[in-house]
Amino acid sequence: ADITRFIAAMPKAEYHVHLEGTLEAEMKFALAARNGLKLPFADVAAMKRSYIYHDLPSFLAIYYDGMKVLLTEQDFYDLAYAYLAKAASQTVLYTEMFFDPQEHLKRGVPMAAVIGGITRARVDAERALGIQSQLILCFVRDSSAESAMAALDAALPLKQYLVGVGLDSDEKGNPPEKFAAHFAKARAAGLKVTAHCDVDQDDTLAHLRTAIVDLKVDRIDHGGNILQSPELVALAKQRNLYFTVCPTFSGTLRTSTPPVDVLRGMIDAGLNVTVSSDDPAYMGSEYLNTVLVRAQTRSALTRAELIGLERNAFNAAWLPANRKAAYL
Ligand code: HPA
Ligand code: ZN
Repeated sequence: ADITRFIAAMPKAEYHVHLEGTLEAEMKFALAARNGLKLPFADVAAMKRSYIYHDLPSFLAIYYDGMKVLLTEQDFYDLAYAYLAKAASQTVLYTEMFFDPQEHLKRGVPMAAVIGGITRARVDAERALGIQSQLILCFVRDSSAESAMAALDAALPLKQYLVGVGLDSDEKGNPPEKFAAHFAKARAAGLKVTAHCDVDQDDTLAHLRTAIVDLKVDRIDHGGNILQSPELVALAKQRNLYFTVCPTFSGTLRTSTPPVDVLRGMIDAGLNVTVSSDDPAYMGSEYLNTVLVRAQTRSALTRAELIGLERNAFNAAWLPANRKAAYL
């Protein structure tokens, strides 16, 4: 109770939240009605009961199916505003949000509608609620390299509304080097680079090595397997790399792996860990406060460690030094 209040009151930041993963069932029904789409569920409860998955591919199938109701600029505005309002209500002061434009381009939604709607929501949420945010374009790594490049090329004229690019979706057979050219082009345009290196995927250590050593990413999303390599841990520390760990996601998905406390391991290894909510709408609608409360219990986090996680989080911000300093 005490610690719950402590966590709720703490100023927070998060960097690993997929906007499409914040699309709540209630909003799906509202958007479907507005767009004249019929959903194959009787009601919100039935839809939520369908959110059953046991690994990344089975999760992703539900997640990609769910986002098909997003069609207009206003839809993206409503999605982003709802997440930002939720985050602001939980004392999240700053967030960098992922989105998956390839999926929306596939449905014929113009890039300008996707980025335009999200950006308008960011501006309005900052004005009305005080929450600051930036946007990270994710490449859907199991789609073709060509479709990822097409998305990047469509987004570059709007690069002033982006802070970086990332890499999400199914990691199996889709190593970071598949996107070397995309990362180079994004960097040349002044964008930061991050990549998912998830815990229960194949070749995760090789993916971490490539991402850190060869591609020199600016951040790692998940990344818990790094604990298997003291050499990479040392390198990550030397580089002052930040890790965005999502303990809820791990707990729900990793039924095949032994219950290793990755968060505790990474903190004890001295890595720069931050905690995020990932895809809250599909994970019991648990937003950052709840994720941190659960993490506190599971990993026996002290108050000093909780404060350290949020200090890391504000340090991890892709903001100019003067704007970052305002949070520290
Ligand atoms: N991992 C990989 N792909 C994703 C995720 C994730 O956590 N969320 C949405 N797409
Ligand atoms: Zn993720």
